[in-house]
Amino acid sequence: MPDTAQFDPRFDTIIDRRGSACEKWDEMESVMGVSATDGLAMWVADTDFRPPQVVQDTVEHLVRTGVYGYAGDQNPQRDATIWWMATRHGWTVTRDDILITHGLVNGLGHLVDALTAPGDAVVLFTPVYHAFAAIITASQRVVVECPMVLDDGRYVLDFDAYDAQMTGAEKMLVLSSPHNPGGRVWSPEELRAIADFCTRHDLILASDEIHHDLVYPGHRHHVLATVAPDIQDRLVTMTSASKTFNIAGGKVGNLIITDPALRKRVRDRLKPFGMSRNLFGMAMSEAAYSPEGAAWVDDLMGYLDRNRKLFDAGIEAIPGVRSIRLEATFLSWIDFSATGMSQSEIASRIRDDARIAANAGPSFGSGGDRFMRFNIGLPRARIEEAVSRLQDAFRDLQ
Ligand SMILES: Cc1ncc(COP(=O)(O)O)c(C=O)c1O
Repeated sequence: MPDTAQFDPRFDTIIDRRGSACEKWDEMESVMGVSATDGLAMWVADTDFRPPQVVQDTVEHLVRTGVYGYAGDQNPQRDATIWWMATRHGWTVTRDDILITHGLVNGLGHLVDALTAPGDAVVLFTPVYHAFAAIITASQRVVVECPMVLDDGRYVLDFDAYDAQMTGAEKMLVLSSPHNPGGRVWSPEELRAIADFCTRHDLILASDEIHHDLVYPGHRHHVLATVAPDIQDRLVTMTSASKTFNIAGGKVGNLIITDPALRKRVRDRLKPFGMSRNLFGMAMSEAAYSPEGAAWVDDLMGYLDRNRKLFDAGIEAIPGVRSIRLEATFLSWIDFSATGMSQSEIASRIRDDARIAANAGPSFGSGGDRFMRFNIGLPRARIEEAVSRLQDAFRDLQ
């Protein structure tokens, strides 16, 4: 059923990103086996939208100057982050609290390095964003998977089971809040329970809140630090403008640490890496965290909400396929288990028959088998095309 919403050039315009050195389209064939000639890129978690005009104007100003030397002071970006967290998320932080890294995967690597030792265990609620486990294992730490439970199509946490799993070797928990994949917006009660779990087992809590702005109507993101102010001495909040505004190529992320002693441990370990600022990333993040940026995000979420409904309705018309209802994120998490097919058959129909590049569920850890993740941060015409291709690829189930 075609969507009847008015054409919105900000989100409905199809931008040909091929040849722009982007991962999602230009590496789709080599990594995912789907040709960019006629394939649909629904894997890498960036959208196919331009950022708001205020970001574009900032970049154009830099380009007009045409000299790309060292970037200056980080404080304007810090101040923009302080403003954003206060006005959008009701959280007050100071310049000193914010350490700037080259994105949040980079930031997580530094946190693991600074706050744990080789051989330590790091806890994840799975399925979860695959780069977490990749960073932890590459750092010679051990991943401990605590599987989330699907309760009537919604992920919940089972602390009795997790308490029983802990051995004392665990030193850190990395949380995705809101959760990627599955799109849960954790409630204040759940965040409180996560904080208490970390206290019980003496874990550092790295709360990755990169998806914090991408929340659908009817849900509200709570910054964990506001729900559990008593655990600041073990809490790192990770935020970035990159996911919300589609500026991930700018490689900027914040590690926000309000406890001076904990922050010193991280800052001291960052120093030897000599990380300097990314000129474009800082300028874009600063511009995005503005009243113009805020208005654009509200419109984006309205657009994504319609994408989500269209995709869910289309995919659930296939017998045995169920979409986990997203409360946040543009990453649809689809359960194919009731089709009775194996993971490899599901994946091959999507890749070879539908010619769609989507992420295979098992790459997100335990609980991901026979799931696929589809990025719906696309112009609506592409969502309609994806639904039609997927219905065709599973036509024999009708
Ligand atoms: C939970 C989460 N953290 C971090 C990232 C990536 O962050 P960055 O691009 O800043 O490294 C992603 C990207 O999908 C994500 O989903």
